Amino acid sequence: MRLSVLLLLFWGSRALSRYHPREITPSYGPLSNEQVTNDTKGQTNPEEHTVKFWYDKSSATLKGRFKTQPREGVAKNLILFLGDGMSPTTVTAARIYFGQLANKSGEEQELIFDTFPYTGLSKTYCVNSQVADSACSGTAYLTGVKNNLHTIGVTADVGYQDWRGMANSDYHTSSIAQWAQEAGKGVGIVTTCKVTDASPTATYANTASRYWQTDQDILKEAPDAQGIQDITRQLVENAPGKNFKVILGGGRETFLLMDQDDGYGNKGLRGDGKDLIQAWKDSKDSKDNATYVTNRDQLLAVNVDKTDHLLGLFHHNHMDYHLEANASHQPTLWEMTTMAIKMMQKEENGYFLFIEGGRIDHGHHDNKAHLALDEVVEFHRAIEVALHLTSEDDTLIVVTADHAHTMTLSGYPSRGSDIITTLQATDDNMTYSTLSYANGPNRNGFEKNGSRHNIVNDDRGAADYRFPTTYYLESETHGGEDVAVYARGPWAHLLVGVFEQTVIPHVMSFAAKIGPAANITVDKSNSTSASPGVGNNMLGLTLTVIILTILY
Ligand SMILES: *[C@@H]1O[C@H](CO)[C@@H](O)[C@H](O)[C@H]1NC(C)=O
Ligand SMILES: *[C@@H]1O[C@H](CO)[C@@H](O)[C@H](O)[C@H]1NC(C)=O
Ligand SMILES: *[C@@H]1O[C@H](CO)[C@@H](O)[C@H](O)[C@H]1NC(C)=O
Ligand SMILES: *[C@@H]1O[C@H](CO)[C@@H](O)[C@H](O)[C@H]1NC(C)=O
Ligand SMILES: *[C@@H]1O[C@H](CO)[C@@H](O)[C@H](O)[C@H]1NC(C)=O
Ligand SMILES: [Zn+2]
Repeated sequence: MRLSVLLLLFWGSRALSRYHPREITPSYGPLSNEQVTNDTKGQTNPEEHTVKFWYDKSSATLKGRFKTQPREGVAKNLILFLGDGMSPTTVTAARIYFGQLANKSGEEQELIFDTFPYTGLSKTYCVNSQVADSACSGTAYLTGVKNNLHTIGVTADVGYQDWRGMANSDYHTSSIAQWAQEAGKGVGIVTTCKVTDASPTATYANTASRYWQTDQDILKEAPDAQGIQDITRQLVENAPGKNFKVILGGGRETFLLMDQDDGYGNKGLRGDGKDLIQAWKDSKDSKDNATYVTNRDQLLAVNVDKTDHLLGLFHHNHMDYHLEANASHQPTLWEMTTMAIKMMQKEENGYFLFIEGGRIDHGHHDNKAHLALDEVVEFHRAIEVALHLTSEDDTLIVVTADHAHTMTLSGYPSRGSDIITTLQATDDNMTYSTLSYANGPNRNGFEKNGSRHNIVNDDRGAADYRFPTTYYLESETHGGEDVAVYARGPWAHLLVGVFEQTVIPHVMSFAAKIGPAANITVDKSNSTSASPGVGNNMLGLTLTVIILTILY
């Protein structure tokens, strides 16, 4: 009897220490002392050893909160910043990376959107999928309606590649870009991806496939399709795209013909005889003030006062990663953002801008976490610029992501450990990095003889280093967890709590008095019920409780 109690106690404590081993300093199995010292700063800030430090820090936070007043005026301007694939883990890792670029330990660093007054979590699932792609997610956060994977700007009645459903305008959803335009606001889109990639596409197109970016794409996958337009045509020929004041990003190839050169030795992809860059210029009232640019110098030289419409296509495909780009040729995301906001400041009725850090997602898909984190820092810089150029009184800025990824930040690396290169030991004498993926294209996880690969001698600091994965897939997948929403400006305080991703454009619509939520009125008469409907439900619930109480 006594023995079994002792045994239970023994197993109990074993179980506890199994989950949270007391010895959190890794043994570093095969790592030399020198490698350990190089990889972890291992020093703590003496100030952080005091009670006062933490109390002071918290008091400052409280005092900041006291000063935060909900703004209830109309949002004249709306900016939606989208970090493609910027999962909560990605934000944490990028924050550390950003701090370490400045030679700090990193964990305590703040990205600019960490300082926003209101945050919430958005649920990203799509109508037919637990995990979103950028197409159905874009439809949710830009048109306020959830739909099917790989489809954009159409309801869930339209399946993937269902061109007949796509041709039926009853199934089309309308985006916040359209609501803004109908209210006389200027609209612009900025991305580091192709301007016809899934996220920006959700501002202007209705399509049964995110991949139908040219006539040839449709021909390949739906040869019978008739009466539908590819994505690039929709951008140039239809409202709201054809009226966008600013379009900046990559993707010249889907605008140009197969035998047409883009000026940099790359051919177009179209087969329908339509040069859509020319068509874009021709569609403007005055060609003189429709400006088309293809590199950084040209962008920086744009005369804002003399330009009504600006099209900037800086790459035949997606723009290069910031770390791999020719900085004198390719503008940064913050440079594009600056130009877009300057163009928009001419709009008497205000504007809607969609600005995407698109390649965070691509870094992750390739297991190249270093590139992904660096793209988040660039995204942060663009937001920082936007804060300087706008006022919190009349501009609602929302920063969010479309979906998560499978990257984790794990182990117990010492404070200040290099977020990119630090190694920790496994219990079978191998090593793992702080960042790793559940799946993806990194074949280096295994040796040819089937045993696991020890990453100790890899060039882990290289920008394009592929981080370890558990399962091999050609492309790392998205993750299904909620993503964060950061908001600042009029009605930003509505974006708190946990909500469907579709709530984001609804709140922006309400804040700017445009689109579907323009006429929703604030009813503060009953603090617990937002609408009569909710009140009735409460009454029903109360009655049910009373009846059940009587029955029992
Ligand atoms: C950080 O330290 C490195 C190496 O000492 C140095 O080259 C770099 O300029 C420093 N960066 C900053 C932002 O201080
Ligand atoms: C653009 O061209 C139109 C037509 O020529 C003209 O009315 C308008 O003033 C021009 N806008 C600018 C900013 O020059
Ligand atoms: C970088 O871009 C500049 C400006 O376009 C160009 O002159 C230079 O040759 C490019 N450098 C490389 C290495 O391609
Ligand atoms: C790890 O290496 C040590 C020392 O060589 C050895 O004793 C131990 O059995 C190894 N552990 C595993 C799980 O291989
Ligand atoms: C598998 O290959 C790796 C790399 O060549 C080598 O280090 C390891 O010892 C091999 N393992 C076995 C079990 O042969
Ligand atoms: Zn993706």
